[in-house]
Amino acid sequence: MPETSPRHPSFGRSFARVGPRMDARGAADHRRRLVAAAHGAVVEIGAGYGATFPFYPAAVSGVLALEPDPTLRELARAAAARAPVPVTVEDGVAESLPAADSSVDVVVSSLVLCSVADQAVALAEVVRVLRPGGLLLFYEHVRSAHRILGAAEDLVTPLWSRLAGGCHPNRNTADSIAAAGLTVQGLERFGFSALPGNPRLAHLLGVASKA
Ligand SMILES: C[S@@+](CC[C@H](N)C(=O)[O-])C[C@H]1O[C@@H](n2cnc3c(N)ncnc32)[C@H](O)[C@@H]1O
Repeated sequence: MPETSPRHPSFGRSFARVGPRMDARGAADHRRRLVAAAHGAVVEIGAGYGATFPFYPAAVSGVLALEPDPTLRELARAAAARAPVPVTVEDGVAESLPAADSSVDVVVSSLVLCSVADQAVALAEVVRVLRPGGLLLFYEHVRSAHRILGAAEDLVTPLWSRLAGGCHPNRNTADSIAAAGLTVQGLERFGFSALPGNPRLAHLLGVASKA
């Protein structure tokens, strides 16, 4: 059974404080670009405090936003009330999506596939709920392609994961998405320092589709 209670109870409160600072440094613009192609029935995994909600375009008929952390979920509910499209916020994890097979047009993941407990299970769920032709829109930080930086990320991952809500800075998420059976159609890779003094981590903005 996938976990539904937060594995990192203090993370939500910390992220609620630092997230808006990340937004101001450029993450908000990344999220705006992330959801520009969203349409129809959308599931957003790990919605946090709802930082993507203001950017959903009118082509979206509704968003089911899942957030396992109670602090972030309450903030997301407040953000949903101000969203330009209908957004429902529920408790839930990516490893067990509350949606029928082939029922969803778009799944959105913004800085979440680094943190899910089991990336392969979460991506199998994404594939299950997407209709044929449906899209996974993803904004994720990933393992550096630089040999030494990647090795350093491998080294810090066990400690960082405990301090930062289960985040793994060394995941090859684009490879995992392809391994799950999705076709990566568009992929932009760029460095982004989320907070002052933080290293520029490799980030992806991408679109993958289900055959
Ligand atoms: C770095 S935050 C990103 C939040 C938000 N998507 C954003 O872009 O601001 C990571 C989020 O993933 C959530 N999360 C962690 N494990 C999860 C899981 N197994 N399923 C769904 N969400 C999860 C956390 O509660 C948190 O909201």
